[in-house]
This record gives sequence, structure tokens and C-alpha cells, in this order.
Amino acid sequence: MNGESAGVATPVLRIRDLSLSFESGSRLSRAVRDLSLELPRGAITCLAGESGCGKSLTCKAVMRLTPENARLSGEILFEGRDLLAISEKELRKIRGAAIGMIFQEPMTSLNPVMKVGPQVAEPLRLHWKASKEEAKARVLELFRQAGIPSPEIRYNDYPHQLSGGLRQRAMIAMALACKPRLLLADEPTTALDATIQGQILRLLVEERDISGMAVLLVTHDLGVVADVGDFVGVMYAGVLVERASTKALFAKPLHPYTQGLIASSPGRASRTLSRLPTIQGTVPPLGQTPPGCPFQPRCSQALPVCSREFPPREILGDREVVCWLYAR
Ligand SMILES: Nc1ncnc2c1ncn2[C@@H]1O[C@H](COP(=O)(O)OP(=O)(O)OP(=O)(O)O)[C@@H](O)[C@H]1O
Ligand code: SF4
Ligand SMILES: [Mg+2]
Repeated sequence: MNGESAGVATPVLRIRDLSLSFESGSRLSRAVRDLSLELPRGAITCLAGESGCGKSLTCKAVMRLTPENARLSGEILFEGRDLLAISEKELRKIRGAAIGMIFQEPMTSLNPVMKVGPQVAEPLRLHWKASKEEAKARVLELFRQAGIPSPEIRYNDYPHQLSGGLRQRAMIAMALACKPRLLLADEPTTALDATIQGQILRLLVEERDISGMAVLLVTHDLGVVADVGDFVGVMYAGVLVERASTKALFAKPLHPYTQGLIASSPGRASRTLSRLPTIQGTVPPLGQTPPGCPFQPRCSQALPVCSREFPPREILGDREVVCWLYAR
């Protein structure tokens, strides 16, 4: 099925009421709670929030690559098919083909004892049934597109022979090999220095422009969101607390958590790092989320109801916020 119907742009991915819980003994702890998000074609949608908010688990849930003790519910519709309902065999045909993935830990994602070129060629051999020669030709083309110098030499290098930036480019080449219609990129630039980070992000933007793929870009860095994001979802303690276009979010953040994140983001205004305000407190560990609004213990605008009842999800034009301040 194509992403368009009757002139109306259908999202490439539609996540509906996704919940993810971990079982430990007789207890269930919710790491992702009733998350709904749509990824349009040709757009970069960022998922932001502090460490431990559930960004990676959301990303992994899309590919059903969650830990064994995780329980998933809801719907994850990729071009109309529910990825949570299809067989593992069907899913294997989609992973690495129609959906490309770049993981948070690039060093551990490449096999250290296998040459980089043949590794990047694997999805082409598997999904496109490409011959060795055809796959190699495509990998060399991908390496060139990804800005990897001397592709023929790099093809036969082992991962440890490449710098962090080149390894990440190779990962991106592998994720893009089969021309995915959706790319899941979990913190693809976190481990890299600022110059390389900029180059890698530009590469993602270029690829998005060329192919029109939808991108889910996980990042804790609001500077990255501002630079490349078209849309953004902010997560806190497993809850998508705000969703908006990037422009609208930075012009007027609605949720107190988003306001705190933006105020404490380096690079905003002319503040120096040492004078940046911070949000008091920390994200609650899994299973220790307070009753009511999960952000309530850290929120300077909390109302009496906030410690008692979970806030409603309000739709305000084309954005959404989960906070009692906007309840109607
Ligand atoms: N296998 C697991 N078993 C139990 N809890 C887990 C497991 N994996 C993740 N968690 C917990 O789920 C929560 C969300 O984890 P997740 O990795 O999605 O966070 P994140 O937002 O990606 O953080 P970071 O920015 O550090 O990558 C965390 O509290 C984490 O400790
Ligand atoms: S619901 Fe209440 S505690 Fe939660 S963010 Fe809004 S005002 Fe703050
Ligand atoms: Mg993560």
C-alpha cells in the first residue's frame, strides 16, 4: 500500500495507544504509556526527553525488538499494517528493508570480525537477493553518498579500522541500503564530535529530501531538534507530554517540562553553560512514577489536582499537550 490515498497524505507510521510494561515477579511497570504519534512522509519527527524517558524503547517497539520481559499493547501501523499483529516472518521481511534502523550503540551494532563492506551489503543480499557483485556496487555507491572517502579501500576494512564518524556513516549506509520508507535513528550522533555530528545530520536530511522517507530521530539534544526536526514529540517518564511542529514548539512551548528543557538547553540565547537553569530533580526510575502527573514533583506550576489525577490529553489545533493547565 502506498502512503497516499485520495490526495490525503496518510502517515507512513501511525502509533496508537502504545504501552510497554516490564514484568518483574507479579508486578508490571509501565515504561511507555498510551503513546500516539504519526510520522508523515518526507518529514523528520524527533523524539526528545531526558535519559530514561522511554525514547529508545518506543523506537525498539516499532520493530518489536524490545526485551523479552516487555509486554506491548496498542497498534503500530506501518503503511496500514499493524506491526504488533503480523508474524515474526513477515516482520523480518520489513526490518532492514522497508524500515531501516540506526541504533544508539553503533560500536556494538557492527560485527567486529566481519569486513565493513560485506556487512553493509547483507540487507541487499537478503532482501533484494542481490548478487555479490551487484551488492558491492550498491554499497560503494552508498559509501560515496555517505561521504566515506576511498570507498573501495574502506569496503575491505574491519570496523575497528574506521573512526567513530566513518563507522556511523557505514551504519547509515546499511540502514539506507534497501531504500527504506521509514528510518528509525536512535541518537545517531550522540557519540560524535560537533563537526561530524553536523555532517551526519546533513546526510540524513539529504537522504530524506532525495527519497521522501519518514524519519523518527531520537535525541536528547534540543539543538538537533531545532536544526533538523519538522515535528517533535517530548517524552517524560514514558508519556508523550507534548507534540507539535518544531517551529511551534520553540516559539511557544506549552508543557512545563518542555519549557524547562528549552530553558536549560545549551546554545539557547547567549547563556554560558555554567549559568544555565536546570529542571530540579530527576526522571523517576521505572516503577516509581508518582500518582497523578508524573512531572508533578518537579513542576513549578503544579495545581492541587496534579498530584491526584493523571492529566488529560488536550488537542490544541495541530498540537497536543498532556497537562492540567490546558484542561477544558
Ligand atoms: N530491559 C529492561 N528491563 C527493565 N527496564 C528497562 C529495560 N530497558 C529499559 N528499561 C527502563 O525503561 C526506561 C526507558 O528506557 P529507554 O532506554 O527507552 O530510555 P531513553 O529515553 O532511550 O534514555 P537514554 O536517553 O538514556 O537513551 C528506563 O527507566 C530504563 O531503565
Ligand atoms: S499536569 Fe500539573 S504537574 Fe503536570 S506538568 Fe501540568 S501543571 Fe505541572
Ligand atoms: Mg535511549
